[in-house]
Amino acid sequence: MHTEQLVSTFVEYFHERGHRRIVGSTLLPPPGDPVLFTTSGMHPLTPYLEGSPHPLGRRLVNVQRCLRTTDLEEVGDATHLTVFEMLGTWSLGDYEGPLSLDWGYGLLTECLGVDPGLLHATVFAGDSQCEPDHASLELWQDRGVPVELTVEDNWWSNGPVGPCGPDSEIFLWSGDCPPESTPTQDDRWVEVWNHVMMRHRRLGDGSLVPLPQRNVDTGLGLERLASLLQGKPSVFEGDVFDPWRRLVPPLWRLDEPSLRLVCDHLRSAVVMLGDGVRPANTGRGYVLRRLLRRVLTVLWREDPSYSVGDLPDELVQHTLDHFRQHMSPAEVRSLLHDEERRFGRLMERGRQVLARPRFRGRLTEEDLHYLHDTHGLPRDLITNLRHG
Ligand code: ALA
Repeated sequence: MHTEQLVSTFVEYFHERGHRRIVGSTLLPPPGDPVLFTTSGMHPLTPYLEGSPHPLGRRLVNVQRCLRTTDLEEVGDATHLTVFEMLGTWSLGDYEGPLSLDWGYGLLTECLGVDPGLLHATVFAGDSQCEPDHASLELWQDRGVPVELTVEDNWWSNGPVGPCGPDSEIFLWSGDCPPESTPTQDDRWVEVWNHVMMRHRRLGDGSLVPLPQRNVDTGLGLERLASLLQGKPSVFEGDVFDPWRRLVPPLWRLDEPSLRLVCDHLRSAVVMLGDGVRPANTGRGYVLRRLLRRVLTVLWREDPSYSVGDLPDELVQHTLDHFRQHMSPAEVRSLLHDEERRFGRLMERGRQVLARPRFRGRLTEEDLHYLHDTHGLPRDLITNLRHG
């Protein structure tokens, strides 16, 4: 099943169950949101989860692009990407969690052909502030799906304060032997769909108060589920990355881990540029800059003549089209190239400064501050220059 087909099957399924499709937002969350980027489908919906009536009603479905940099070191494994798409559904004070889980189970097993024997669920075990999620546990027991109970792993929040609640996650077995163990014990259980019973608000003092309505907020990792349904061992082998796998290796000779990092980060960079982010030393622009510098470090370690300005237009256009962004590939390439030149100059300056006798030995904290404040050399760049 192609990714596009998975999206339409999902949307259609929830449409038949009374959900209206809303247009996904950009990677930039609404003003006032505590995070730099949209990291979950619920971000743009925060006011409606908190009780404002949504113009399209109480049942919503969408596809939302998200960016997560908390998992940066894990990018390159089978399941993590910096930019990914989340299929989401919402009950804004309408139906309750068990119905959402039951629909999730029905979609996976009946419409998408997942073998029910390959599913595992996790459910909130309860803590001192909130009781165990008996309703979800009962639903899974009725459906014959094994359940693992956890505390922290089954509590979802958008940040230290704000809407939150217990969740129930659905895992799919990715191993090539019959399923064994449980999701917290064996990472061949891949989390594909999270259903959050979002009915609480966490206050600054850590206490919980009820939200004005009982919501359900769900999020399904599109690239993850698509690659599993396609029988591929990682997201990088799913159809979304087909053009990258076809066009990048002839351009740059990279081993598999480097290829994955370069494709992931460049794809994310294109999407961020398409959403209006520009490289900078702070905030969102710094996240973009960091991703590009990681790419350039990997490329130049292989061959200093490699340039991101060579990224084929076809690849940039494919990514912009996929995310429905309107920017010319030439402009994207030119911004990438400018950033590359800037980084090249910084590396050159770094090499010269670090060659001075004062910096030959072990660098103290004071040296690192001096190099940063006086010469604009960030710590990770210095580490690269000394050990790269
Ligand atoms: N908001 C929930 C998540 O991102 C669905 O996992």
